[in-house]
Amino acid sequence: MLSGIQPTAGSFHLGNYLGAVRQWVALQESHDAYYMVVDLHAITVPQDPAELRANSRVAAAQLLAAGLDPERCTLFLQSHVPEHTQLSWVVECLTGFGEAARMTQFKDKSAKQGTDHTTVGLFTYPALMVADILIYRAHQVPVGEDQRQHLELTRTIAERFNSRFSHTFPVPDAYILKETAKIYDLQDPEVKMSKSASTPKGIIDLLDEPKTTAKKIKSAVTDTDTVIRFDRDKKPGISNLLTIHSTLTGTTVEELEERYAGKGYGALKTDLAEIVTDWVTPFRQRTQEFLDDPATLDTLLARGAEKARAVAAETLADVYEKVGFLPAK
Ligand code: TYM
Repeated sequence: MLSGIQPTAGSFHLGNYLGAVRQWVALQESHDAYYMVVDLHAITVPQDPAELRANSRVAAAQLLAAGLDPERCTLFLQSHVPEHTQLSWVVECLTGFGEAARMTQFKDKSAKQGTDHTTVGLFTYPALMVADILIYRAHQVPVGEDQRQHLELTRTIAERFNSRFSHTFPVPDAYILKETAKIYDLQDPEVKMSKSASTPKGIIDLLDEPKTTAKKIKSAVTDTDTVIRFDRDKKPGISNLLTIHSTLTGTTVEELEERYAGKGYGALKTDLAEIVTDWVTPFRQRTQEFLDDPATLDTLLARGAEKARAVAAETLADVYEKVGFLPAK
């Protein structure tokens, strides 16, 4: 099991948590799990060095606050394991230019930035992600829906490598929970909640002041109807709120529809604001506690990197040998 998350913009948002990190926490109990903060991926768009350093710690602290336990999983920073970039080069040499150009995340981001501002790193971003996954010979990758295409590419490259050189990699599956695969923007529930696309009002930042969080939920865009019912197409705003409620409380959507029958949207929003702030408040506190002790945090990440490197180095040596590189004596 392997997954990663970008350290950009300081705080994770509720989509990151419900779509991915929540599953990471559950899966560390049953799987040999590798989780990382993908600082190398972060520099595919410009980053302030001091902020990137700080944000990497904030990201790691949030993962611990969410429930990752370094005794149960391997938690590290991507840049601490140089084998990822080394394997990435091999992956790039097995990936068609057209294949990479078809990646919708690249197309979307580069269209926004314009060719002169789009880096080659953004273009080869998926190859690094393929390497991230293959270097641990991962079988499953817990992610949100927006990463599905990158997972498809990973499967293609794993198969290509295996058939060209001999069986080396399992063909990994995306582990995507249907209910939380895509959490939507509170202000525009037709699009996913996303740091790069949403307005601040549309995103629930996990490190926001609880007051701010409550306000954002109460001003979420809904519809002109009054019935609380899950209907992704006709009632995207209400459906999104029901999904968040259901996931955080463990109540089924059907039960919620019954509970709120005859009640207005205000009741749902007030309850949900309380549920989310009750979750977020201790989460913020725990994150701060980890950040207050950076030495311990850094030691923990160093230990994670050491464990990860042992596995990554073995895979890389195998790949180098199969590709035909003469071993260094
Ligand atoms: P990133 O940092 O954009 O997002 C981290 C995780 O959160 C999920 N996610 C969402 N899920 C549901 N609803 C949303 N609105 C939402 N927004 C984000 C993402 O799908 C992701 O699982 N390229 C990856 C990081 C990465 C990676 C990897 C992941 C690098 N290497 C190897 C898996 C395996 C990314 O940028 O995620």
